[in-house]
Amino acid sequence: MQFKITGGKTLSGEIQLAGAKNAATKLMIATLLTDEPCVLEGMPNIGDVEITSELCKSVGSFIHKEGSTVTIATPEILTHKAGPLSRRNRIPILALGPLLARVGKAEVPFLGGDKIGARPVDIHLEALTQMGAKITATADTYQAEAPNGLKGARVSFRFPSVGATENTILAAVLAKGRTVIVNAAVEPEILDLIKFLQKMGAIIELGTNRMIAIEGVEKLHGAKHKVMPDRNEAVSFACLGLAAGGPVLVKDARQDDLITFLNAVRRVGGEYQVRSNGISFFRPEGVKFKGIEIETDTHPGFMTDWQQPFGVVLTQAEGLSVIHETIYEDRFGYIKDLNLMGANIKTLDKCMGELTCRFNGCNFAHSAVINGPTKLHGANTTVKDLRSGMVNIIAALIADGVSVLDGIEEIDRGYENIDDRLRALGAQIERIG
Ligand code: EPU
Repeated sequence: MQFKITGGKTLSGEIQLAGAKNAATKLMIATLLTDEPCVLEGMPNIGDVEITSELCKSVGSFIHKEGSTVTIATPEILTHKAGPLSRRNRIPILALGPLLARVGKAEVPFLGGDKIGARPVDIHLEALTQMGAKITATADTYQAEAPNGLKGARVSFRFPSVGATENTILAAVLAKGRTVIVNAAVEPEILDLIKFLQKMGAIIELGTNRMIAIEGVEKLHGAKHKVMPDRNEAVSFACLGLAAGGPVLVKDARQDDLITFLNAVRRVGGEYQVRSNGISFFRPEGVKFKGIEIETDTHPGFMTDWQQPFGVVLTQAEGLSVIHETIYEDRFGYIKDLNLMGANIKTLDKCMGELTCRFNGCNFAHSAVINGPTKLHGANTTVKDLRSGMVNIIAALIADGVSVLDGIEEIDRGYENIDDRLRALGAQIERIG
């Protein structure tokens, strides 16, 4: 399937955020921890939720969907083998803890998802092993056993991984005793998962300095929860508003989740207004954007998923801008397409930030220098991954002429009805094929 986009139109109006992809799928896995029904509200209608539904159903869940409300009940785990899905997203490994807690063994397929770096899972596996799981890798699955249940442990992460933090929390809530995660990730999506688990009966403390402590309980029960709004969508739409002039009111965008991004908006010369129903983004009359430096980081830093759409804004800024990507070694795949459309961006394997990062000396092109402003023109491109797909869309919408984007299924995995929602802002975008 393809999008045909005619660019250069003025874009303004209101756009509603969907529920957060990276919280919704984890909440679905958390429902496997109880035999009682759970109700999840505000769920996005996206490919990753479908893939996660298949996974839950494969182990015995009944799922009922009405609008954006999803009810999941797993009265019994019918098999410890989750699948037969392989390499489609990052979620299956999170099912290890719930399956071990309920039936003492688990088998999950290897992970897939965006091709943005090696994305190992050593931190996940070390944590679960310290908690008593015996894990082996087959050709395409991880198999785990904990016949006597998991035990609380003190686990110290070499890097605050989002997935490993979620995995350890999901394993610890029903483990015997207390688990302490040192150097945990504290992204808002993790807090959303913690809030849901608390409603289900878990005991989880947030300490200082990235410490999370979980006291295992005997049993969890059903609960109702509304998933948080998607802050990555918020940034994508904000960047569109800035690059295309705006104002674009991003409905349900929350200032708390976007503090670092809002600072970057102001530094580049863009503006925003925080309202009761969202945040409005625009380029003030007569203002020229100016080049700035961005360094991605774990929360509360500038998120790695934000640098791609913000990169399009920086192509419209005067002078040099620098992006130093410190989370993934290969997240500049989108730059080739932007250059094809007229941008002037070079990537370097040096650390172009205040500090050297863990990729220093590794020959990864993880810094980008953007020379602007450059006028963009339409081009035919293929979507490489979810976030860079959004770059293709934003760039095509502000470019002169027509662009055709191939492989848009990747975008549908994380953005609900993106073409309908963008049309409401005045975008000329058609789904073909
Ligand atoms: N890492 C390891 N070992 C591990 C785990 C992670 O070396 O065991 C490394 C990774 O290779 C990577 C870094 O740590 O270089 C960050 O990985 P992390 O585990 O924090 O990320 P994730 O859980 O795989 C989630 C989101 C990503 C988002 C990152 C960072 C989901 C499904 N994915 O990935 O979102 O970029 O956190 O915030 O929640 C997206 O939505 O498009 C997306 C890629």
